[in-house]
Amino acid sequence: MRLHVADHPLIAHKLSVLRSKDTDSPTFRRLAEELVTLLAYEATRDVRVEPKQIQTPVTEMTGVAISSPRPLVVPILRAGLGMLEGMTRLIPTAEVGFLGMVRDEQTLEATTYAERLPDDLSGRQIFVLDPMLATGGTLAVAIQFLLDRGARDVVAVCLLAAPEGVRLIEHKFDARANVTIVTAALDERLDENGYIVPGLGDAGDRLYG
Ligand code: PRP
Repeated sequence: MRLHVADHPLIAHKLSVLRSKDTDSPTFRRLAEELVTLLAYEATRDVRVEPKQIQTPVTEMTGVAISSPRPLVVPILRAGLGMLEGMTRLIPTAEVGFLGMVRDEQTLEATTYAERLPDDLSGRQIFVLDPMLATGGTLAVAIQFLLDRGARDVVAVCLLAAPEGVRLIEHKFDARANVTIVTAALDERLDENGYIVPGLGDAGDRLYG
């Protein structure tokens, strides 16, 4: 597993506004999208491309095009949906699949309640979208699900990650697994309810509550 924590003043600025409890839902949604577009630039650094002949107004040259099979973007419902538009803005030719996951409020154990993905993910590059990586339980189940279907590599794009969640993903997916986490920030810790501290509260509620 590889971890990339964004280090950019614009990302830090937008994230600070997002964290503030005084930021309303419409602003929160807009900022979440903007942040994802900035993170997507880093997350797609290793997107596979192939040579393609093109004709400029001046001459012929070899350019590049995104390779087939197309990358697959998978928002984890519900909060990940707030990141979809920001991601597809940067990579509009990507295919989109959905994974619905919910945590038991007491045990924080994650289960899958809905799934709309291609049956065969062999060789696919997958971008999972979920704003919060807290205990890591949700992301671990989602990544395993995708790798079991044949995904070649998985990049998880998060707005915030807790060290506890990063450690869990690191423990479950070693260096051979081709798993990357790209996050806007790595926060301090989880509290006793599994919330990220300092965090931004419940992303699902702030987007759609
Ligand atoms: C939140 C968040 C992640 C998950 C992270 O979703 O969007 O999916 O919790 O927690 P974990 O790392 O401890 O598993 P939630 O279960 O609140 O559902 P929602 O997106 O429908 O609000």
